[in-house]
Amino acid sequence: MKILKTYEGFLNKDIIIRPMTDADVRTCMDIKFQYFGHFWGDLADPMTKEKHDRYSMNKLDKSVSIVAEINGEIVGGYILKKTKLPIITGNFYDFEGDDSTGIEGVSLFVHPDHKEKGIGHILKYYYKENPRPDVKFIWGQAFHGLKNIDHWLKSRKLFNDMGGVYFTIELYDGTIDKYTTTEHLAFYETNKKSAADYIEELAETGKSLEEIQGDELLSGFDPEEIKEITQYLNLF
Ligand SMILES: CC(C)(COP(=O)(O)OP(=O)(O)OC[C@H]1O[C@@H](n2cnc3c(N)ncnc32)[C@H](O)[C@@H]1OP(=O)(O)O)[C@@H](O)C(=O)NCCC(=O)NCCS
Repeated sequence: MKILKTYEGFLNKDIIIRPMTDADVRTCMDIKFQYFGHFWGDLADPMTKEKHDRYSMNKLDKSVSIVAEINGEIVGGYILKKTKLPIITGNFYDFEGDDSTGIEGVSLFVHPDHKEKGIGHILKYYYKENPRPDVKFIWGQAFHGLKNIDHWLKSRKLFNDMGGVYFTIELYDGTIDKYTTTEHLAFYETNKKSAADYIEELAETGKSLEEIQGDELLSGFDPEEIKEITQYLNLF
C-alpha cells in the first residue's frame, strides 16, 4: 500500500490518504451509491446499482483517485480523473492553447458514520496541499439539482453553466484571470443566466433555430455557436 499522507492525531485516530486500488473500488461504489443512486435516471430508465457503478468506473482514474482510511477501514474517497483544461461550448474563459494537465473531480464522498469531521476537506484539497507538477487544477460538474454550488464556489470559479450542470474550476496557482473571458461570461453577468439556458427557454416556447439565432439578446453570439449549443443540449 502506498501511503500518500498520514494525518496524525486526527480525532485521536490516524487517517491515511492513499491511492484507490482495485480492491477498494467495491466499497467506494457502495458508499457513493447511497448518496447518488437515486439521482440519475427516471421511471422509463431507472438507475440501477450496476449502471451507477459502470458510469463511475468509466471515470475512475487510479493514477490520481484517492481514499481515506482509518484503522484499515475506508471512510471516504475522491474519484478523480486526469484531464486537460475542459474546453466546452459556452465556457466563460478561453482555455484554448494551454496544455496544462489537472484533474476532474468526479465524485467526493465520506461514509455517513464519519461525516462532518473534516475528512471531506482533506480529500477535497489533497492535491492543492500536496502539489504535483502534472496536477495544476481541479474542475468538476455539479448538477443544479444537488443544490451544492455554494460549497464548490468557496474555492472554485464558475466557468460554464449548461444543461442543468454547473462547471467549476480551481487553478492551484490561482490565476483564472490570465484567461481571456468570452461573451458567455458577459451574458451570464448581465442576464443572471447562461446563454445556453436562455436558448433552451426559447426552444421550449416553440422558437425555431433560425428564430433563436436572430434573437436580439443573443446578437453577440455567432449563429454557428448557437447551433452548437442547441446540438449539445439536443434541442432540435
Ligand atoms: C460532501 C461530503 C464529502 C463532505 O464531507 P465531510 O467529511 O462530511 O465534510 P467536511 O466537514 O470535511 O467538509 C468538507 C467540505 O465539504 C463541503 N460540503 C459539505 N456538504 C457538501 C455538499 N453537499 N456538496 C459539496 N460540498 C459539500 C463543505 O462546504 C466543506 O468545504 P470546505 O472544505 O471548502 O470548507 C460529505 O458530506 C458527503 O459524502 N456527502 C454526500 C456526497 C456528496 O454530496 N458529495 C459532494 C458532491 S460530488
